[in-house]
Amino acid sequence: MIQFISVYKTYGQGITSLSNINLAIKKGEFVFITGASGSGKTTLLKLLYCEERPTSGQILINRQAVDSLKISEIPYLRRRIGIIFQDFKLLSERTIFDNVAIPLEVLGLPREEIVKRVQDVLRKVRLHHRMEEKVSSLSGGEQQKVAVGRAIINDPMILLVDEPTGSLDSGSGDEIMEILRSVNARGTTIVVATHNRSLIKEGRAVVLEKGRIVS
Ligand SMILES: Nc1ncnc2c1ncn2[C@@H]1O[C@H](COP(=O)(O)OP(=O)(O)OP(=O)(O)O)[C@@H](O)[C@H]1O
Ligand SMILES: [Mg+2]
Repeated sequence: MIQFISVYKTYGQGITSLSNINLAIKKGEFVFITGASGSGKTTLLKLLYCEERPTSGQILINRQAVDSLKISEIPYLRRRIGIIFQDFKLLSERTIFDNVAIPLEVLGLPREEIVKRVQDVLRKVRLHHRMEEKVSSLSGGEQQKVAVGRAIINDPMILLVDEPTGSLDSGSGDEIMEILRSVNARGTTIVVATHNRSLIKEGRAVVLEKGRIVS
């Protein structure tokens, strides 16, 4: 489903973030990208989400080359990919409901359907009783769950997650991982970037070192 073929990413002059990446991820897999800070984990996710373009090489999603998509085609790809950013990127002055509803509003779905789907997803992440609260009043772990909700509201074929447990205590971290496992069990391919190797209890781990895959 996902293929990296001899992918390189260089920023400006000489900073090589990714070097000769060859990687295939099958539909329904749960894959961890791990490695030290600066090893290229976030860069790899950004290439999949077309937030950055590779300097050379090819990236295929369902046999479609996404490295050369036109700017106008990127939104269509992104409708099928959920992403949870390292810093969440939530609208902190809006409610939990509003944040999770955004991807559906972009699609112009009818209000009743939006309400129903947001409620369903918020039940999954156990925040349905708090949906009118502002994001700015939530803890880090709760905000992480809102970010999960927003990323899965469209039933994506691929879910990209950058440091799912970054600043969370181990209890909240376990809860997030449990939610990701249940999303994976319904068929979504999951790619998690993390420096925290203790999260890797199932699935496959790809280890990066200075932008290269070492195992
Ligand atoms: N926009 C950018 N411009 C220049 N260099 C960048 C840019 N983004 C990333 N880099 C460099 O690319 C390398 C890999 O960065 P990346 O963010 O992918 O690492 P990471 O593995 O996600 O690290 P962390 O665990 O700290 O999140 C680093 O050396 C970083 O400085
Ligand atoms: Mg990172």
